Amino acid sequence: MSVAELDIEAELTGKERKLLPSEIISTQTDPRGLITFANGVFTKVTGFSREEVLGRPHNLIRHPDVPRALYYVLWSTIKDGHQFFGVTKNRCKNGDHYWTLGMFQPNFEGDEITGFRSTRKGLKDEGLKAEFDELYRAVRRVELEKPRPRQVEAGYKALKKQLKKHGYADYEAFARRALAN
Ligand SMILES: Cc1cc2nc3c(=O)[nH]c(=O)nc-3n(C[C@H](O)[C@H](O)[C@H](O)COP(=O)(O)O)c2cc1C
Repeated sequence: MSVAELDIEAELTGKERKLLPSEIISTQTDPRGLITFANGVFTKVTGFSREEVLGRPHNLIRHPDVPRALYYVLWSTIKDGHQFFGVTKNRCKNGDHYWTLGMFQPNFEGDEITGFRSTRKGLKDEGLKAEFDELYRAVRRVELEKPRPRQVEAGYKALKKQLKKHGYADYEAFARRALAN
């Protein structure tokens, strides 16, 4: 099944799907980022069925406002065997979007990474949401000025610059404030 066949080209609605405090999203991928598990909350919130997402790349729900640089930092961290804490804005199948915060971690068998998992809850605080939205859009704007192969590098530089401007040493320091959310 191609991505186009999944009908995820539905236009973005700008409408937010807010998560309930009881809604915890959990997904797992293989080492390349192909989805191997998605819980019932994931299918409920995104509107995709398990059949539609299993074996598909996790960028299936990527929201165009979110910079590629964020996912570069995510992948560099988890591929190194560490955990990553981050805030994501994703799209639903119908074009709505939702905000989450959570952990991304490698799965190990002995020393070998066999895949990755994410466990996320909703981001509630409207002020924080606005801050992340502003940061992501600013970095994404820089990325979009570049051709595709140079977007991550430019975005990563812009991300570091923006974080420094706001007084944060790195993305993790910025994102960790969301833990109190
Ligand atoms: C466990 C795990 C969960 C992920 N969750 C998301 C997600 O919710 N949204 C997203 O856009 N990318 C997610 N990614 C990152 C994607 O694999 C991908 O790097 C990202 O969407 C950028 O895609 P692109 O640059 O190939 O378009 C996740 C990766 C892993 C390993």
